Amino acid sequence: METWDAIRGRRNVRAYSDRPIAPEQLDRILEAGWRSPSSRNDQRWDFVVVTDRQRLRELSKVWQWAQHVATSAATVALLAPDTEDPGERASIEYDLGQATMSMAIAAADLGIGSGHASVADQDLARRILGHPPDRVCPYLIAFGYPADRPLKPIQKPNRRPFDDVVHRERW
Ligand SMILES: Cc1cc2nc3c(=O)[nH]c(=O)nc-3n(C[C@H](O)[C@H](O)[C@H](O)COP(=O)(O)O)c2cc1C
Repeated sequence: METWDAIRGRRNVRAYSDRPIAPEQLDRILEAGWRSPSSRNDQRWDFVVVTDRQRLRELSKVWQWAQHVATSAATVALLAPDTEDPGERASIEYDLGQATMSMAIAAADLGIGSGHASVADQDLARRILGHPPDRVCPYLIAFGYPADRPLKPIQKPNRRPFDDVVHRERW
Protein backbone atom coordinates (compact mmCIF):
# COMPACT_ATOMS: atom_id res chain seq x y z
CA MET A 1 0.00 0.00 0.00
CA GLU A 2 0.96 3.61 -0.39
CA THR A 3 1.42 5.43 2.92
CA TRP A 4 -1.72 7.47 2.30
CA ASP A 5 -3.71 4.30 1.67
CA ALA A 6 -2.30 2.69 4.82
CA ILE A 7 -3.35 5.75 6.85
CA ARG A 8 -6.84 5.65 5.34
CA GLY A 9 -7.10 1.86 5.49
CA ARG A 10 -6.15 1.39 9.13
CA ARG A 11 -9.12 0.64 11.33
CA ASN A 12 -9.61 -0.96 14.70
CA VAL A 13 -9.69 -4.69 13.95
CA ARG A 14 -10.97 -6.91 16.76
CA ALA A 15 -11.61 -10.16 14.87
CA TYR A 16 -8.64 -11.90 13.29
CA SER A 17 -8.28 -14.79 10.87
CA ASP A 18 -6.11 -17.82 11.69
CA ARG A 19 -3.42 -16.64 9.28
CA PRO A 20 -0.13 -16.12 11.10
CA ILE A 21 2.02 -13.05 10.58
CA ALA A 22 5.33 -13.89 8.89
CA PRO A 23 8.29 -13.24 11.24
CA GLU A 24 9.84 -10.64 8.91
CA GLN A 25 6.53 -8.76 8.76
CA LEU A 26 6.19 -8.81 12.54
CA ASP A 27 9.75 -7.54 12.81
CA ARG A 28 8.93 -4.72 10.41
CA ILE A 29 5.96 -3.70 12.57
CA LEU A 30 8.21 -3.76 15.65
CA GLU A 31 10.88 -1.80 13.83
CA ALA A 32 8.29 0.89 13.06
CA GLY A 33 7.72 1.21 16.81
CA TRP A 34 11.44 1.20 17.52
CA ARG A 35 11.98 3.99 14.96
CA SER A 36 9.26 6.22 16.44
CA PRO A 37 10.08 9.71 17.68
CA SER A 38 10.04 10.38 21.41
CA SER A 39 10.51 13.32 23.73
CA ARG A 40 14.27 14.14 23.86
CA ASN A 41 14.72 10.78 22.14
CA ASP A 42 14.34 9.22 25.58
CA GLN A 43 12.68 6.09 24.16
CA ARG A 44 11.02 5.29 27.48
CA TRP A 45 9.49 2.11 26.13
CA ASP A 46 10.05 -1.60 25.76
CA PHE A 47 7.99 -3.87 23.58
CA VAL A 48 7.12 -7.42 24.57
CA VAL A 49 5.76 -9.32 21.61
CA VAL A 50 3.55 -12.29 22.39
CA THR A 51 2.56 -14.94 19.84
CA ASP A 52 2.00 -17.99 22.03
CA ARG A 53 -1.73 -18.77 21.94
CA GLN A 54 -2.07 -19.66 25.60
CA ARG A 55 -0.18 -16.54 26.66
CA LEU A 56 -2.37 -14.42 24.35
CA ARG A 57 -5.47 -15.92 25.95
CA GLU A 58 -4.17 -15.03 29.40
CA LEU A 59 -3.20 -11.53 28.26
CA SER A 60 -6.71 -10.91 26.95
CA LYS A 61 -7.93 -10.99 30.58
CA VAL A 62 -6.09 -7.83 31.65
CA TRP A 63 -9.01 -5.63 30.63
CA GLN A 64 -12.65 -6.33 29.85
CA TRP A 65 -12.34 -4.87 26.35
CA ALA A 66 -9.18 -6.78 25.46
CA GLN A 67 -10.83 -10.05 24.36
CA HIS A 68 -9.56 -9.55 20.80
CA VAL A 69 -6.01 -10.12 22.07
CA ALA A 70 -6.86 -13.83 22.59
CA THR A 71 -7.35 -14.45 18.86
CA SER A 72 -4.68 -12.08 17.55
CA ALA A 73 -1.71 -13.47 15.65
CA ALA A 74 0.58 -11.34 17.79
CA THR A 75 0.14 -8.73 20.48
CA VAL A 76 2.71 -6.14 21.45
CA ALA A 77 2.70 -5.03 25.07
CA LEU A 78 3.99 -1.49 25.49
CA LEU A 79 6.01 -1.14 28.68
CA ALA A 80 7.11 2.11 30.25
CA PRO A 81 8.76 3.35 33.43
CA ASP A 82 6.37 3.64 36.36
CA THR A 83 6.11 7.25 37.48
CA GLU A 84 3.82 9.31 39.70
CA ASP A 85 4.85 12.56 38.03
CA PRO A 86 1.84 13.74 35.96
CA GLY A 87 3.97 15.65 33.46
CA GLU A 88 6.29 12.72 32.85
CA ARG A 89 3.37 10.35 32.61
CA ALA A 90 1.68 12.53 29.98
CA SER A 91 4.91 12.76 28.01
CA ILE A 92 5.42 8.99 28.12
CA GLU A 93 1.86 8.36 27.03
CA TYR A 94 2.24 10.75 24.12
CA ASP A 95 5.33 8.85 23.01
CA LEU A 96 3.65 5.47 23.44
CA GLY A 97 0.82 6.77 21.28
CA GLN A 98 3.28 7.67 18.55
CA ALA A 99 4.91 4.23 18.70
CA THR A 100 1.48 2.59 18.64
CA MET A 101 0.41 4.53 15.58
CA SER A 102 3.68 3.85 13.76
CA MET A 103 3.16 0.13 14.30
CA ALA A 104 -0.51 0.30 13.29
CA ILE A 105 0.33 2.10 10.04
CA ALA A 106 3.23 -0.28 9.27
CA ALA A 107 0.82 -3.17 9.84
CA ALA A 108 -1.90 -1.63 7.66
CA ASP A 109 0.70 -1.21 4.92
CA LEU A 110 1.05 -5.02 5.02
CA GLY A 111 -2.71 -5.61 5.12
CA ILE A 112 -2.51 -6.50 8.82
CA GLY A 113 -5.14 -5.15 11.18
CA SER A 114 -4.50 -3.82 14.66
CA GLY A 115 -6.52 -3.24 17.79
CA HIS A 116 -5.51 -1.35 20.91
CA ALA A 117 -6.36 -2.44 24.40
CA SER A 118 -5.94 -0.71 27.72
CA VAL A 119 -4.60 -2.66 30.68
CA ALA A 120 -6.53 -2.58 33.95
CA ASP A 121 -5.03 -5.55 35.81
CA GLN A 122 -1.38 -4.62 36.08
CA ASP A 123 -0.58 -7.54 38.40
CA LEU A 124 -1.89 -10.05 35.89
CA ALA A 125 0.00 -8.31 33.05
CA ARG A 126 3.20 -8.53 35.12
CA ARG A 127 2.70 -12.22 35.89
CA ILE A 128 2.27 -12.97 32.18
CA LEU A 129 4.92 -10.64 30.75
CA GLY A 130 7.52 -10.78 33.51
CA HIS A 131 8.58 -7.13 33.41
CA PRO A 132 10.48 -5.65 36.38
CA PRO A 133 8.76 -3.75 39.23
CA ASP A 134 9.84 -0.33 37.91
CA ARG A 135 7.89 -0.83 34.67
CA VAL A 136 4.18 -0.78 33.90
CA CYS A 137 2.18 -1.93 30.91
CA PRO A 138 -0.24 0.85 29.96
CA TYR A 139 -1.39 -0.56 26.61
CA LEU A 140 -1.46 -3.55 24.33
CA ILE A 141 -1.77 -3.52 20.57
CA ALA A 142 -2.99 -6.67 18.89
CA PHE A 143 -2.22 -7.60 15.28
CA GLY A 144 -3.69 -10.02 12.81
CA TYR A 145 -5.23 -10.32 9.38
CA PRO A 146 -8.87 -9.17 9.56
CA ALA A 147 -11.44 -11.97 9.77
CA ASP A 148 -14.12 -9.89 8.09
CA ARG A 149 -12.78 -7.97 5.08
CA PRO A 150 -9.36 -6.86 3.89
CA LEU A 151 -8.14 -3.41 4.82
CA LYS A 152 -8.83 -0.80 2.20
CA PRO A 153 -9.05 2.99 2.31
CA ILE A 154 -12.15 4.10 4.23
CA GLN A 155 -13.94 6.76 2.24
CA LYS A 156 -16.16 8.10 5.04
CA PRO A 157 -14.56 7.46 8.43
CA ASN A 158 -16.63 7.73 11.60
CA ARG A 159 -15.18 11.02 12.72
CA ARG A 160 -16.30 14.46 13.86
CA PRO A 161 -16.68 16.73 10.83
CA PHE A 162 -13.28 17.76 9.50
CA ASP A 163 -14.12 21.48 9.62
CA ASP A 164 -15.22 21.21 13.26
CA VAL A 165 -11.87 19.71 14.18
CA VAL A 166 -9.52 21.80 12.06
CA HIS A 167 -9.16 25.45 13.00
CA ARG A 168 -7.13 27.62 10.69
CA GLU A 169 -4.86 30.31 12.12
CA ARG A 170 -7.09 30.71 15.26
CA TRP A 171 -9.83 28.71 17.06
C1 LIG B 1 -5.78 4.76 24.01
C2 LIG B 1 -6.70 3.82 23.28
C3 LIG B 1 -7.21 2.72 23.95
C4 LIG B 1 -8.07 1.84 23.29
N1 LIG B 1 -8.50 0.76 23.97
C5 LIG B 1 -9.28 -0.15 23.33
C6 LIG B 1 -9.69 -1.34 24.00
O1 LIG B 1 -9.39 -1.57 25.16
N2 LIG B 1 -10.43 -2.23 23.30
C7 LIG B 1 -10.80 -2.00 22.00
O2 LIG B 1 -11.48 -2.85 21.43
N3 LIG B 1 -10.44 -0.88 21.35
C8 LIG B 1 -9.67 0.05 21.97
N4 LIG B 1 -9.28 1.19 21.31
C9 LIG B 1 -9.70 1.41 19.90
C10 LIG B 1 -10.68 2.57 19.70
O3 LIG B 1 -11.94 2.24 20.22
C11 LIG B 1 -10.77 2.86 18.19
O4 LIG B 1 -9.49 3.18 17.71
C12 LIG B 1 -11.73 4.01 17.88
O5 LIG B 1 -13.05 3.61 18.13
C13 LIG B 1 -11.66 4.51 16.44
O6 LIG B 1 -11.91 3.47 15.52
P1 LIG B 1 -10.86 3.09 14.38
O7 LIG B 1 -9.57 2.72 15.10
O8 LIG B 1 -11.48 1.92 13.66
O9 LIG B 1 -10.65 4.27 13.51
C14 LIG B 1 -8.43 2.08 21.95
C15 LIG B 1 -7.92 3.19 21.28
C16 LIG B 1 -7.04 4.05 21.93
C17 LIG B 1 -6.46 5.22 21.16
